[in-house]
Amino acid sequence: MKRKQIAAANWKMNLTLSEGKKLLDTLIGQSLLLNDNQEVIIGVPFPYLIAFKPELDNCSGFFIGAQNVAATPNGAFTGEVSATMLNDLKVKYVIIGHSERRLYFSETSAILSEKVNRALENELIPIFCCGESLEIREAGTQNQFVENQIIDGLFHLSPMQISKLIIAYEPIWAIGTGKTATSDQVQAMHEVIRNIIASQYGTDIAQEISILYGGSVKASNAKEIFNKPDVDGGLVGGASLIALEFSEIIKALKR
Ligand code: PGA
Repeated sequence: MKRKQIAAANWKMNLTLSEGKKLLDTLIGQSLLLNDNQEVIIGVPFPYLIAFKPELDNCSGFFIGAQNVAATPNGAFTGEVSATMLNDLKVKYVIIGHSERRLYFSETSAILSEKVNRALENELIPIFCCGESLEIREAGTQNQFVENQIIDGLFHLSPMQISKLIIAYEPIWAIGTGKTATSDQVQAMHEVIRNIIASQYGTDIAQEISILYGGSVKASNAKEIFNKPDVDGGLVGGASLIALEFSEIIKALKR
């Protein structure tokens, strides 16, 4: 089975509704032809999910995604959005464990593993993020660090459950910094991630899971990174806010 090749946009807390609409109109206006193996996910702020879903539904291979989900099923949690609500809106994807959530909102592996559970219970596909800080990279302990993030966040899942996931490797030192990991550094870590999954769940499952790279992906570097054997696309922040830049990134996906 061929792995899905995915370009996922992470708008973060950017763009007004009308700016977002303009961006999507321009992106969709490019008439990008995706093959059966390729997908584009647009991760928007919660209030835009309902607004933009119909337009994306009309576009083959394009999907809307949320950027976060509550760890608890429902109840008195002011300001939270539950997986049940996202499922009710027919949202398919949700980003979980982005380093900004881990860092600024104190999301621990224990919380993230609950978020993954809520997502899977509600037929949402998690895009589970992992990645090390500059300090850890400089100390040379990045492989162990990322392995632990995967073990702590995901290894409670059954083989069937984990095979549904998308993983995004996002070294913190490359996010929003303009500093991209080299394609060899990316490939090396993606291999580490695939191997740790294989060690627990077997090679077949590890080979099925799409692993995206995130961190200053741009039109100019996407092709080289995406061409690496264990890289199945990207999770893109800054460059996803520019329609023509993001459309070039989509075109750089393996076919
Ligand atoms: P960036 O962000 O592309 O702006 O580096 C990526 C991300 O945080 O998902």
